[in-house]
Amino acid sequence: MKTSATRIPPLASTTLFTLVTLSGLVVLGLSAQPASAADAVEAVATKNAPAIDATTLWTKNCKSCHGEDGKGKTKAGSKLHVQDLTAPEVVAKFCREDMIKAVTEGLKDEKTGKTRMKSYAEKLSAAEISATVDYVLSLTK
Ligand code: HEC
Repeated sequence: MKTSATRIPPLASTTLFTLVTLSGLVVLGLSAQPASAADAVEAVATKNAPAIDATTLWTKNCKSCHGEDGKGKTKAGSKLHVQDLTAPEVVAKFCREDMIKAVTEGLKDEKTGKTRMKSYAEKLSAAEISATVDYVLSLTK
C-alpha cells in the first residue's frame, strides 16, 4: 500500500501564520490599556472572538433534541419528552438565568439522576450559551 505524500510545509506555515496573527491581535487588544486585568481579558475576548452565530450554534448543538424550531418534535426530543421551548406557558416557567444554568450545567432527572441534557460548559463559551438561549427565546415571539 502506498502512503500518500505528506504535505506538512503548507500546513505548518498556515499554523505559524495563525499563531502570529493571533498573538498580534492579543498584543493589539492589550495595548488598548483597559482599566483592569479583568477588563483586559474581556477586551481581548470581545475583540478577538468571532461573531457568534446563534443559529449555527443551535443547529449544531441543540437542534437534534429541541428541533430547528425549538418545539422539540424530533426523534430524540420525543424520546426525552422535551418541552416545546417556544410555548409561552413553558417559557413562562423559566427565567433566562435558569435556562442558561440548565444549558451550562446540564439537567438531570430528579428521580433517577439520569442526565437529560448534558452540560455544555466545556463545549460552548458562556457567551455562546447565552446566545443559544436568546435564540430559543426569540422563537417564542
Ligand atoms: C440530548 C438532547 C438535548 C440536547 C442536544 C439539548 N437539550 Fe436542552 N433539554 C433537553 C431535555 C431532555 C430538557 C429537559 C426537558 C425540557 O425542559 O424540555 C432540556 C431542557 C432545556 C431547556 C429548558 C431549561 C430547563 O430548566 O428545563 C433549555 C433552555 C434548553 N434545554 C436549551 C438547550 C440548548 C440551548 C441546547 C444546545 C446548546 C440544548 N438544550 C441541547 C435535551 C437536550
